[in-house]
Amino acid sequence: MEDSAVTASLVIAIDGPSGAGKSTVSKELARRLGLAYFDTGAMYRAAAVWLERHGALDQPEAMPALIDGMPLELNLDPDAQRFVLGGDDITALIRTTEVSTYVSKVSTCLGARDVLVAWQQRVVARERTAAGWSEGRGVVAEGRDITTVVAPDAEVRVLLTASEAARLARRALEVHGKADAAAIAATTDQVVRRDRDDSTVARFMDAPPGVTVVDSSNLTIEQTVRAILDLIPG
Ligand code: DC
Repeated sequence: MEDSAVTASLVIAIDGPSGAGKSTVSKELARRLGLAYFDTGAMYRAAAVWLERHGALDQPEAMPALIDGMPLELNLDPDAQRFVLGGDDITALIRTTEVSTYVSKVSTCLGARDVLVAWQQRVVARERTAAGWSEGRGVVAEGRDITTVVAPDAEVRVLLTASEAARLARRALEVHGKADAAAIAATTDQVVRRDRDDSTVARFMDAPPGVTVVDSSNLTIEQTVRAILDLIPG
Protein backbone atom coordinates (compact mmCIF):
# COMPACT_ATOMS: atom_id res chain seq x y z
CA MET A 1 0.00 0.00 0.00
CA GLU A 2 1.03 3.67 -0.37
CA ASP A 3 2.76 5.33 2.56
CA SER A 4 0.17 8.07 2.70
CA ALA A 5 -2.88 5.84 2.73
CA VAL A 6 -4.98 6.11 5.86
CA THR A 7 -6.04 2.88 7.48
CA ALA A 8 -8.69 2.80 10.19
CA SER A 9 -7.68 1.12 13.42
CA LEU A 10 -4.36 -0.37 12.42
CA VAL A 11 -2.14 -2.10 14.94
CA ILE A 12 1.34 -3.13 13.84
CA ALA A 13 3.09 -5.41 16.32
CA ILE A 14 6.86 -5.86 16.04
CA ASP A 15 8.92 -8.19 18.20
CA GLY A 16 12.54 -9.16 18.05
CA PRO A 17 15.89 -9.30 19.82
CA SER A 18 18.07 -6.31 20.75
CA GLY A 19 19.69 -4.56 17.81
CA ALA A 20 17.35 -5.90 15.12
CA GLY A 21 16.28 -2.32 14.36
CA LYS A 22 12.85 -2.42 16.00
CA SER A 23 12.87 1.13 17.40
CA THR A 24 14.15 2.88 14.29
CA VAL A 25 11.84 0.97 11.98
CA SER A 26 8.78 1.20 14.25
CA LYS A 27 9.20 4.95 14.69
CA GLU A 28 9.53 5.44 10.93
CA LEU A 29 6.43 3.33 10.25
CA ALA A 30 4.47 5.35 12.83
CA ARG A 31 5.58 8.62 11.21
CA ARG A 32 4.66 7.54 7.69
CA LEU A 33 1.29 6.08 8.64
CA GLY A 34 0.36 8.78 11.16
CA LEU A 35 0.15 6.26 14.00
CA ALA A 36 1.23 6.35 17.62
CA TYR A 37 4.56 4.72 18.49
CA PHE A 38 4.61 2.52 21.57
CA ASP A 39 8.01 1.40 22.86
CA THR A 40 7.09 -1.25 25.43
CA GLY A 41 10.75 -1.85 26.33
CA ALA A 42 10.81 1.70 27.67
CA MET A 43 8.07 0.69 30.13
CA TYR A 44 10.24 -2.18 31.41
CA ARG A 45 13.11 0.30 31.73
CA ALA A 46 10.94 2.86 33.56
CA ALA A 47 9.70 0.12 35.90
CA ALA A 48 13.32 -0.87 36.59
CA VAL A 49 14.15 2.74 37.55
CA TRP A 50 11.06 2.92 39.77
CA LEU A 51 11.92 -0.36 41.52
CA GLU A 52 15.55 0.67 41.93
CA ARG A 53 14.38 3.88 43.64
CA HIS A 54 12.29 1.76 46.00
CA GLY A 55 15.16 -0.63 46.69
CA ALA A 56 13.00 -3.44 45.26
CA LEU A 57 15.07 -4.67 42.31
CA ASP A 58 15.79 -7.92 44.14
CA GLN A 59 12.29 -8.36 45.55
CA PRO A 60 10.18 -10.00 42.83
CA GLU A 61 7.23 -10.43 45.21
CA ALA A 62 7.03 -6.64 45.75
CA MET A 63 7.29 -5.79 42.05
CA PRO A 64 3.68 -6.17 40.80
CA ALA A 65 2.12 -3.80 43.36
CA LEU A 66 4.90 -1.23 43.00
CA ILE A 67 4.65 -1.27 39.19
CA ASP A 68 0.87 -1.03 39.38
CA GLY A 69 1.23 2.23 41.31
CA MET A 70 4.01 3.62 39.11
CA PRO A 71 3.16 7.24 38.10
CA LEU A 72 4.47 6.90 34.54
CA GLU A 73 3.37 9.28 31.79
CA LEU A 74 3.90 8.02 28.23
CA ASN A 75 4.14 10.18 25.16
CA LEU A 76 3.43 8.13 22.04
CA ASP A 77 4.34 10.76 19.44
CA PRO A 78 7.15 9.17 17.36
CA ASP A 79 8.87 12.56 17.15
CA ALA A 80 8.49 13.56 20.80
CA GLN A 81 9.30 10.44 22.79
CA ARG A 82 9.29 11.35 26.48
CA PHE A 83 8.88 9.32 29.64
CA VAL A 84 8.04 11.13 32.86
CA LEU A 85 8.06 9.26 36.15
CA GLY A 86 6.48 11.08 39.07
CA GLY A 87 7.30 14.45 37.45
CA ASP A 88 10.89 13.41 36.69
CA ASP A 89 11.89 13.23 33.00
CA ILE A 90 13.65 9.84 32.73
CA THR A 91 13.84 9.73 28.90
CA ALA A 92 17.66 9.82 28.82
CA LEU A 93 18.18 7.89 32.05
CA ILE A 94 16.35 4.78 30.83
CA ARG A 95 18.80 4.44 27.90
CA THR A 96 21.90 4.32 30.09
CA THR A 97 24.07 1.20 30.29
CA GLU A 98 23.32 1.02 34.01
CA VAL A 99 19.59 0.62 33.40
CA SER A 100 20.22 -1.77 30.49
CA THR A 101 22.22 -3.92 32.89
CA TYR A 102 19.49 -4.32 35.51
CA VAL A 103 16.29 -4.15 33.45
CA SER A 104 16.19 -7.95 33.02
CA LYS A 105 15.44 -8.24 36.73
CA VAL A 106 12.05 -6.78 35.83
CA SER A 107 11.51 -8.42 32.44
CA THR A 108 12.21 -11.90 33.85
CA CYS A 109 9.74 -11.46 36.75
CA LEU A 110 6.42 -13.00 35.65
CA GLY A 111 4.37 -10.98 38.16
CA ALA A 112 5.91 -7.76 36.87
CA ARG A 113 5.17 -8.81 33.28
CA ASP A 114 1.50 -9.47 34.10
CA VAL A 115 1.03 -5.90 35.32
CA LEU A 116 2.94 -4.36 32.40
CA VAL A 117 1.17 -6.52 29.80
CA ALA A 118 -2.27 -5.50 31.15
CA TRP A 119 -1.19 -1.83 31.08
CA GLN A 120 0.14 -2.20 27.52
CA GLN A 121 -3.10 -3.85 26.39
CA ARG A 122 -5.06 -0.86 27.72
CA VAL A 123 -2.77 1.52 25.81
CA VAL A 124 -3.17 -0.46 22.54
CA ALA A 125 -6.98 -0.62 22.97
CA ARG A 126 -7.12 3.13 23.59
CA GLU A 127 -4.94 3.88 20.55
CA ARG A 128 -7.14 1.73 18.31
CA THR A 129 -9.94 4.26 18.77
CA ALA A 130 -8.00 7.45 19.47
CA ALA A 131 -7.18 9.95 16.73
CA GLY A 132 -3.59 9.32 15.60
CA TRP A 133 -0.85 11.88 15.08
CA SER A 134 -2.26 12.76 11.68
CA GLU A 135 -5.31 11.10 10.16
CA GLY A 136 -4.52 7.53 11.03
CA ARG A 137 -5.83 5.58 13.97
CA GLY A 138 -3.80 2.99 15.69
CA VAL A 139 -0.34 2.22 16.90
CA VAL A 140 2.98 0.61 16.07
CA ALA A 141 3.93 -1.32 19.20
CA GLU A 142 7.33 -2.96 19.61
CA GLY A 143 8.82 -5.30 22.17
CA ARG A 144 9.33 -9.00 22.78
CA ASP A 145 5.80 -10.35 23.30
CA ILE A 146 3.60 -7.92 21.38
CA THR A 147 2.72 -10.31 18.53
CA THR A 148 2.04 -13.17 20.93
CA VAL A 149 0.71 -11.79 24.25
CA VAL A 150 0.04 -8.04 24.22
CA ALA A 151 -1.65 -7.70 20.79
CA PRO A 152 -2.02 -11.11 19.11
CA ASP A 153 -5.00 -9.63 17.19
CA ALA A 154 -2.81 -6.98 15.48
CA GLU A 155 -3.41 -6.60 11.73
CA VAL A 156 0.35 -6.85 11.08
CA ARG A 157 2.58 -9.12 13.19
CA VAL A 158 6.30 -9.13 12.52
CA LEU A 159 9.32 -10.80 14.03
CA LEU A 160 12.19 -8.50 13.11
CA THR A 161 15.47 -10.38 13.29
CA ALA A 162 19.09 -9.91 12.24
CA SER A 163 22.24 -11.98 12.59
CA GLU A 164 24.02 -11.71 15.95
CA ALA A 165 26.99 -10.01 14.25
CA ALA A 166 24.73 -7.36 12.67
CA ARG A 167 22.89 -6.76 15.95
CA LEU A 168 26.11 -6.38 17.95
CA ALA A 169 27.59 -3.96 15.43
CA ARG A 170 24.45 -1.81 15.37
CA ARG A 171 24.16 -1.62 19.14
CA ALA A 172 27.90 -0.83 19.47
CA LEU A 173 27.50 2.05 16.99
CA GLU A 174 24.46 3.34 18.86
CA VAL A 175 26.01 3.17 22.33
CA HIS A 176 29.72 3.78 21.63
CA GLY A 177 29.63 5.58 18.26
CA LYS A 178 31.83 2.89 16.67
CA ALA A 179 31.77 -0.83 15.95
CA ASP A 180 35.39 -1.90 16.51
CA ALA A 181 36.31 -5.04 18.49
CA ALA A 182 36.39 -3.22 21.87
CA ALA A 183 33.01 -1.56 21.35
CA ILE A 184 31.47 -4.86 20.26
CA ALA A 185 32.91 -6.64 23.30
CA ALA A 186 31.49 -3.92 25.56
CA THR A 187 28.04 -4.37 23.99
CA THR A 188 27.89 -8.15 24.13
CA ASP A 189 26.41 -8.31 27.64
CA GLN A 190 23.62 -5.89 26.74
CA VAL A 191 22.67 -7.78 23.61
CA VAL A 192 23.48 -11.47 24.01
CA ARG A 193 23.10 -11.99 27.76
CA ARG A 194 19.94 -9.88 28.01
CA ASP A 195 18.28 -11.64 25.07
CA ARG A 196 19.18 -15.00 26.57
CA ASP A 197 17.62 -13.97 29.91
CA ASP A 198 14.53 -12.50 28.27
CA SER A 199 13.97 -15.45 25.98
CA THR A 200 13.28 -17.56 29.09
CA VAL A 201 10.01 -15.61 29.57
CA ALA A 202 9.04 -14.32 26.12
CA ARG A 203 9.32 -16.11 22.79
CA PHE A 204 10.96 -13.84 20.25
CA MET A 205 13.72 -15.86 18.60
CA ASP A 206 11.41 -17.84 16.31
CA ALA A 207 8.08 -16.90 14.76
CA PRO A 208 4.81 -18.52 15.84
CA PRO A 209 2.09 -19.11 13.20
CA GLY A 210 0.74 -15.87 11.72
CA VAL A 211 3.89 -13.89 12.48
CA THR A 212 6.06 -12.90 9.49
CA VAL A 213 9.83 -12.98 9.87
CA VAL A 214 11.67 -9.97 8.42
CA ASP A 215 15.44 -10.47 8.53
CA SER A 216 17.11 -7.04 8.47
CA SER A 217 20.74 -8.30 8.40
CA ASN A 218 21.24 -7.19 4.81
CA LEU A 219 18.48 -4.60 4.52
CA THR A 220 18.66 -0.84 4.87
CA ILE A 221 16.18 0.90 7.17
CA GLU A 222 14.19 1.97 4.12
CA GLN A 223 14.05 -1.59 2.76
CA THR A 224 12.97 -2.91 6.16
CA VAL A 225 10.22 -0.28 6.45
CA ARG A 226 9.02 -1.15 2.93
CA ALA A 227 8.97 -4.88 3.72
CA ILE A 228 6.65 -4.19 6.66
CA LEU A 229 4.46 -1.69 4.74
CA ASP A 230 3.93 -4.46 2.18
CA LEU A 231 2.35 -6.63 4.88
CA ILE A 232 -0.48 -4.16 5.63
CA PRO A 233 -3.73 -5.74 4.44
CA GLY A 234 -4.99 -3.79 1.44
O1 DC B 1 13.82 -3.18 23.84
P1 DC B 1 14.56 -2.73 25.10
O2 DC B 1 16.01 -3.09 25.13
O3 DC B 1 14.34 -1.29 25.44
O4 DC B 1 13.84 -3.58 26.26
C1 DC B 1 14.19 -3.43 27.61
C2 DC B 1 14.07 -4.78 28.32
O5 DC B 1 12.70 -5.18 28.46
C3 DC B 1 14.78 -5.92 27.60
O6 DC B 1 15.45 -6.68 28.60
C4 DC B 1 13.67 -6.71 26.97
C5 DC B 1 12.49 -6.46 27.86
N1 DC B 1 11.21 -6.41 27.16
C6 DC B 1 10.34 -7.46 27.32
O7 DC B 1 10.67 -8.44 28.00
N2 DC B 1 9.10 -7.41 26.74
C7 DC B 1 8.75 -6.36 25.98
N3 DC B 1 7.54 -6.33 25.42
C8 DC B 1 9.65 -5.28 25.80
C9 DC B 1 10.89 -5.34 26.39
